[in-house]
Amino acid sequence: MIKLQNITKQYYMGEIEINALDDVTLAIERGEFISVMGPSGSGKSTLLNILGVLDQPTFGTYLLEDVDITDLSDRELARIRNRHFGFIFQSYNLFPELNALENVMVPLAYAKKPKAERIKRAEELLQMVGMSHRLKHFPNQLSGGEQQRVAIARALANNPTLLLADEPTGNLATDQGKEIMELLCELNEQGTTIVIVTHDPSISLYGKRLVKLQDGKIISDEALKPSAEPAQRRSSS
Ligand SMILES: Nc1ncnc2c1ncn2[C@@H]1O[C@H](COP(=O)(O)OP(=O)(O)OP(=O)(O)O)[C@@H](O)[C@H]1O
Ligand SMILES: [Mg+2]
Repeated sequence: MIKLQNITKQYYMGEIEINALDDVTLAIERGEFISVMGPSGSGKSTLLNILGVLDQPTFGTYLLEDVDITDLSDRELARIRNRHFGFIFQSYNLFPELNALENVMVPLAYAKKPKAERIKRAEELLQMVGMSHRLKHFPNQLSGGEQQRVAIARALANNPTLLLADEPTGNLATDQGKEIMELLCELNEQGTTIVIVTHDPSISLYGKRLVKLQDGKIISDEALKPSAEPAQRRSSS
C-alpha cells in the first residue's frame, strides 16, 4: 500500500545538518497495525509526518498504491492527505468552539458532502467510538479519553487508507489509554490500517508489528505476538 524508499529528512540548524530520518525504507501493507518506538529525537514524529504527507522528504521516494507521490505540489498533496490519511495527536487538536458532532463533521465538509449526510455520518462515527451520548458537548466539557474518541471519529470521517497516531495515549490516564488502544484494535480488526507512535512499551504491544527507530534509522522491525490482554478481548468479542 505504501512504500518509503531510502527516505532521508534533513533539517539545518545554522551550519549544522540534522538527519531526522536517515535512509529509511519501510513498506506498509493494508490491514497492518504498526507501533513505532524509539528515544526522544529518534525521528518518530518525522516519520509519521512524512507518511501522512504533512511533510516532504529531502531524499528518497514515496510510493502510494505504487504511484510515486514524492514530488507532487502542495495542493495535490493536500488532496491526497484529505483522501487517504487520518491523524490523531497527543493533544487531541479538536476545535474548541465546535461541539463533538460539529468537530467530526469538519473533514466531511472539506470533502464537500451535503449537510444531511455530514450529520448522519458524524453520528454514526461517534456511535462507533462510544460517544453517542455526548454529541452536543464541547471539548472543554469532555474528559481527555472522550476528547480522543471524538478525535478518532473525526480522523475516520473520510474512510482513510491509513490512520496515523502520534502518542495518542500520551495525555491519558492508564485505563483511558487502554480503552483508546482497544478501540484502535477494533478498528484494525474491521480493516483500518494503523501506525502509532508511542513511548510506552505496554501500549506498543497492542500493535501487530513493532518498528524501532534510533538516530533516524530503523534498528529493528519485527512481528508482535498478540499480547494476553488484547487477545482475551478479541476472543470474547
Ligand atoms: N523543524 C525542525 N527543525 C530542526 N530540527 C528538527 C525539526 N523537527 C525535528 N527536528 C529534529 O529532528 C530529530 C527528530 O525529531 P522528531 O520530532 O521526529 O523526534 P521524535 O522521535 O518524535 O521525538 P519525541 O519522542 O521527543 O517526540 C530531532 O533531533 C529534532 O530535534
Ligand atoms: Mg515526536
